[in-house]
Amino acid sequence: MKFRDDFVWGAATSSYQIEGGQNEGGKGAHLWDEYVKEENGKVFENQRGDVSCDHYHRYKEDVQLMKELGIKAYRFSIDWTRIIPEGIGAINEEGIAFYNSLIDELVANDIEPYLTLFHWELPMELYKRGGWMNPDMPEWFANYARVIAERFSDRVKNFFTINEPQCFVGLSFSEGVHAPWLQLPDSQTLLMSHNALKAHGRAVQELRAHARQPLNIGYAPTSGIALPATDKPEDIEAARQAYFGIPQEGTWAWNTAWWSDPVIFGKYPEEFLVHFEKDLPKITDDDMKIISEPIDIYGQNIYLGYPVRMGEDGKPELLSRNTGYAKSASNWPMTPDALYWGPKFLYDRYKKPIFITENGLACHDWVHLDGKIHDSSRIDFTARYLGALSRAAEEADIRGYFAWSLMDNFEWAEGFGQRYGLVYVDFQTQKRIPKDSAYWYREVIRTNGACI
Ligand code: BGC
Repeated sequence: MKFRDDFVWGAATSSYQIEGGQNEGGKGAHLWDEYVKEENGKVFENQRGDVSCDHYHRYKEDVQLMKELGIKAYRFSIDWTRIIPEGIGAINEEGIAFYNSLIDELVANDIEPYLTLFHWELPMELYKRGGWMNPDMPEWFANYARVIAERFSDRVKNFFTINEPQCFVGLSFSEGVHAPWLQLPDSQTLLMSHNALKAHGRAVQELRAHARQPLNIGYAPTSGIALPATDKPEDIEAARQAYFGIPQEGTWAWNTAWWSDPVIFGKYPEEFLVHFEKDLPKITDDDMKIISEPIDIYGQNIYLGYPVRMGEDGKPELLSRNTGYAKSASNWPMTPDALYWGPKFLYDRYKKPIFITENGLACHDWVHLDGKIHDSSRIDFTARYLGALSRAAEEADIRGYFAWSLMDNFEWAEGFGQRYGLVYVDFQTQKRIPKDSAYWYREVIRTNGACI
């Protein structure tokens, strides 16, 4: 298996999922802080991220763990409400100090920080004012981005603006499976999406304008990958069309073109504009200019794909999966080719250097009698997915891979019921134990993939 010599090998986390320290250090409340309090049965066993991995107090230990595991890059996110508790207004110096220490610790240990500005911690005060529906949201986010640039860009070069708008708009406000569990009409979620994209663009502008050094700025969306059922050119074409087309299943938010074409091309896909005409927000040329502020790198979180072939009618046809297909502890199908076709389709269309900003597997991990965690399925999964990625790297510009996740954490609506970590966390004692996959990944990193 071959990757470029400067390939970035990393691991990823997000703030609410690992930090804990919920009422500490002057932090404000965000949507998840507030909505998980309700104990309404929407989160597995009514669990919350108030303490989670207690990373807020244990970050030094966690950085040492990364060092021991040979991890070269760490993708983490900042909780907006630690920096600006009410979303706008006063800056919380204690929050700045926390992330400064984390960044210093990473740099001192030769781990390159990749900072995500928004992995779903919408400040409650802004949500009360309409959140993503409020036309001021892009400016509020821009202000936050400026603070991030001013305070951290002397040491951090790599930034991702927003993580998975498909989820923080779609899952939260369309499907109602994430906080605040709403199912709003398309007209409202489409408005949110437009404001979220403008917020992304304004953040790129502010990061760049206030940067202390030249930056690599990217974006980190997601969605399942359409996989051609065979190698026939017509099936490949069908998969490409399905991947960039209007989703045939689930809500409108599960798609790629709506969220990425505007960022790269400065326009929404025509097919969508026609299809959603009656629900569209007002879209101006100035908006599109902001949204398409050039980015340097393109991140994509990729976990799975779905099979597609060209139908008799010349349109992509979604196929059912084979009986007994392999799946994870989160019931997601194992589809390694997603890491070939996804980056390939994205590169063919957008021509930007690609980072896989998340990929990983939920397993039924536990501490075995010998005190270790033998997660052979995670090793096999990652080996297969990386194999597909190395094939993609022969045809596309693939710059890096971030395993999701560095450690087991609060899995949103699934609470602590799903474990994605390379490192096992005992949530009673906060003891960390690297799983077998963590030591395997260390070898992958050391050999730049050659050991697979
Ligand atoms: C999210 C992560 C999440 C992971 C596994 C991604 O959609 O960015 O926060 O933990 O999937 O569900």
